[in-house]
Amino acid sequence: GLKIAVIGGGSSYTPEIIEGFIKRHDELPVKDLYLVDIEEGKEKLEIVGNLAKRMIEKAGVDMNIYLTLDRREAIKDADFVTTQFRVGLLDARIRDEKIPLKYNCIGQETTGAGGLAKALRTIPVILDICKDIEELSPNAWLINFTNPSGIITEAVHKHTKVKCIGLCNVPILMHMLSADVLNVNKDDIRMDLVGLNHLVWGRDVIYKGESKIDEVIKHLIAGKGYTAKNIPDIDWGKELLESLGMLPCPYHRYYYLTDVMLKEEIETAKKEGTRGEIVKKVEKELFELYKDPNLKEKPKQLEDRGGQYYSDAACELISAIYNDKGTIHYVNIQNNGTINCIPNDSVIERTCYVDKEGAHPFNVKPLPSKIKGLLQVINEYEALAVEAGVYGDYGTALQALIIHPLVESSSAKYILDDIIKENIDYLPQF
Ligand code: NAD
Ligand code: G6P
Ligand code: MN
Ligand code: MN
Repeated sequence: GLKIAVIGGGSSYTPEIIEGFIKRHDELPVKDLYLVDIEEGKEKLEIVGNLAKRMIEKAGVDMNIYLTLDRREAIKDADFVTTQFRVGLLDARIRDEKIPLKYNCIGQETTGAGGLAKALRTIPVILDICKDIEELSPNAWLINFTNPSGIITEAVHKHTKVKCIGLCNVPILMHMLSADVLNVNKDDIRMDLVGLNHLVWGRDVIYKGESKIDEVIKHLIAGKGYTAKNIPDIDWGKELLESLGMLPCPYHRYYYLTDVMLKEEIETAKKEGTRGEIVKKVEKELFELYKDPNLKEKPKQLEDRGGQYYSDAACELISAIYNDKGTIHYVNIQNNGTINCIPNDSVIERTCYVDKEGAHPFNVKPLPSKIKGLLQVINEYEALAVEAGVYGDYGTALQALIIHPLVESSSAKYILDDIIKENIDYLPQF
């Protein structure tokens, strides 16, 4: 049987990953599942871990669930390690959202200055985890969802020997939207999806060998709602969609509609708090539900979180590797020439087929100017973020912010100083 370690096991998303393993138990015989957390997450781990045990018991599958604070015990001889941890917990996220807002810049946990702060906190931890994997389970696959997922995956590829694939639910949301508006079964379409994590474009949607992207865009122009739960569903505008001719991801709103999004963020923050503050309440309610000893399945309310479906995608990805399936997934992998206008060692998000060797990207036609420039800038920002996160270099972090289109350059220094000051306990590299 397989051994799997889930780092950040106290996450409220854990019931989804458990459901995913239960559903697939015949093809993916997970025997030992370790949910790992840290002292601060002990209570959450207990609550969600006990729900996980009840789910397994009810389903009658032969799987052992272990709750532990001992990461090395969990990683030792694991076949797969998944990461869904949040360094500094939600309080750190709320700070990431509020610091840029103070300077009238987008305050978002993965996109813009907030994403850099999260990367700087997370990189030392992921590198530590990878050291454990290199020593205790060198053949294990690391499936990373920890955000910023593309940057964290890039840090792993550039600085460790660990086999790593990064994952996000946004491509799945794009795929499901497309199937929905085309009114076809979601297994019958494939997206030509290319870009970076949270900056990915659907260049095409293929149904029975035919291009359907124009039809999908027509529905968006007609006002079909489309976003992730954590991003307001602001209208894109007909001209923008028509001239783009591709399906933008929900996060593109921060780049394409910056001032509208900023205004919206400021207003929401005043009324309900930042997204992190809202999530704090949602999470509290979820954990109250999880405590109920009669609850033995994933509750519907988990759909109020922006990351819905991502753990199920992880289970499917793990099964594709384990069973050498050769199925299609949208994942974060090393570029290696796939996109010809960015470096080989960049991490990209791309349509891939997945087998026991890992994820293999489909070839990419040269990118048109309208998406190439933005992708290149953000990719170089990410390279700087990785370098700053690994070496703790102030100047590199500053340049990362200065070149980021969502950071007002003359505020970059003040934003960075606040980020370092408010996160100093989590920045051993600085
Ligand atoms: P969360 O706040 O519930 O954190 C999950 C757990 O991580 C907590 O129980 C916490 O105690 C634990 N943790 C913190 N530091 C740790 C460490 N050093 N080692 C082990 N555990 C640690 O977070 P969440 O809302 O479940 O999100 C978890 C992560 O997944 C975040 O980074 C989030 O951004 C990311 N996420 C990604 C996607 C995606 O599309 N890739 C979707 C949803 C969430
Ligand atoms: C999804 C993203 C995730 C992100 C999550 C936030 O859109 O793909 O990467 O972490 O939403 O959701 P939350 O409910 O925490 O705001
Ligand atoms: Mn994501
Ligand atoms: Mn990159």
